[in-house]
Amino acid sequence: MKLNLSLFVYGFASLSYAFPSAYKSIATWGIEGYAKSNPIGITTGGKGGPTVIVTTEAELKAAVLGTDPKVIKVKGSILLSSRLAITPNKSIIGVGSSAQITGAGLNIYNGDNVIVQNLKISHILGNDCITIRNSTRVWIDHNEFTSDISQGPDLYDGQVDIIRASDWVTVSWNYFHDHWKSSLIGNDPSFRDLDFGHLHVTYHHNYWKNEGTRGPAGRFGHQHIYNNLYEDFLYQAIHSRSDNQVLVEGNVFRGNTSEALSTYGLVIPMDSPNTCVCGDEELDGYANLGARNDWGRAGVNITQKGDFYSAKYKYQLTPLKLVAKVAKAGAGVGKI
Ligand SMILES: *[C@@H]1O[C@H](CO)[C@@H](O)[C@H](O)[C@H]1NC(C)=O
Ligand SMILES: *[C@@H]1O[C@H](CO)[C@@H](O)[C@H](O)[C@H]1NC(C)=O
Ligand SMILES: *[C@@H]1O[C@H](CO)[C@@H](O)[C@H](O)[C@H]1NC(C)=O
Ligand SMILES: *[C@@H]1O[C@H](CO)[C@@H](O)[C@H](O)[C@H]1NC(C)=O
Repeated sequence: MKLNLSLFVYGFASLSYAFPSAYKSIATWGIEGYAKSNPIGITTGGKGGPTVIVTTEAELKAAVLGTDPKVIKVKGSILLSSRLAITPNKSIIGVGSSAQITGAGLNIYNGDNVIVQNLKISHILGNDCITIRNSTRVWIDHNEFTSDISQGPDLYDGQVDIIRASDWVTVSWNYFHDHWKSSLIGNDPSFRDLDFGHLHVTYHHNYWKNEGTRGPAGRFGHQHIYNNLYEDFLYQAIHSRSDNQVLVEGNVFRGNTSEALSTYGLVIPMDSPNTCVCGDEELDGYANLGARNDWGRAGVNITQKGDFYSAKYKYQLTPLKLVAKVAKAGAGVGKI
């Protein structure tokens, strides 16, 4: 049955539990992008393995040992005393809308085939909520990441950082809010030889609100960025630098968002207040535009186009007019 559009929009507002089915014709709720379509196969996480429910740090740390497939369901709030190392072949999935990780974040290091869904990860001091390092096939879906932007860029670190030649990652339907540095791809310009040719990441239907920089910021890789909503992304949303390539389409920028997209190699001081008050100079990146974006009042500075004209997989583009509504209604926890 073909759905009538007004019915559809009404459905989002009134019946959030019903919309995944109503949605199917305009957005993909399941896995899509590089974590699905890549040379080594679809990301399955713990599929096929046993399911365990954990409610404490000790249970969670025991559950992630070993590389056998396992689905780990997190119930309630867990305060981690140190970072949690996620091993290959795992799905970590929050139960309901109250599963939460605080204290320390997650490391997906030297691994493969991991899914993280429906978790709120917040206020991780001096480190990332999730760091994906030297790992392949990771799907970060329907989570919430937040802290406090008034604390500046460095009290907390990134929300989802993807580094050291990681590859085939999808970051979808996450609610990123009230935080300075969101998502960094490639964390050092000196890792060119290691990183180049990797770092393929898809970002779709994420909702960013009241954030500072890196939505995402990429070096040396390829990122396909579509149908995301950016609201009050204060300093710089998408930044492609150090020969990185982005394909940017069907995104919506709203509110006080100063720069939607830049390929200019200058790492602005608000992004990395490290060496110089004037920022750090790097090589420019590349950007290509696909389906129309709605930039709102935000600036765009594309200094060079690349050869990343299209993504070599099937994906569902949401009509631009519905992107803000769909991303707001669908992103975050308690939705899957
Ligand atoms: C993941 O599980 C599959 C079998 O389900 C196994 O072949 C593979 O070695 C595991 N991955 C790792 C890194 O152990
Ligand atoms: C990257 O991970 C692989 C396992 O997937 C491991 O064999 C290799 O040593 C790791 N490389 C580094 C630099 O840690
Ligand atoms: C927009 O955000 C910037 C950075 O926080 C701030 O300096 C500026 O006052 C804001 N503008 C408005 C209109 O809120
Ligand atoms: C845009 O990029 C050019 C370099 O090509 C640079 O000179 C200019 O300052 C940039 N504009 C902004 C707003 O960053």
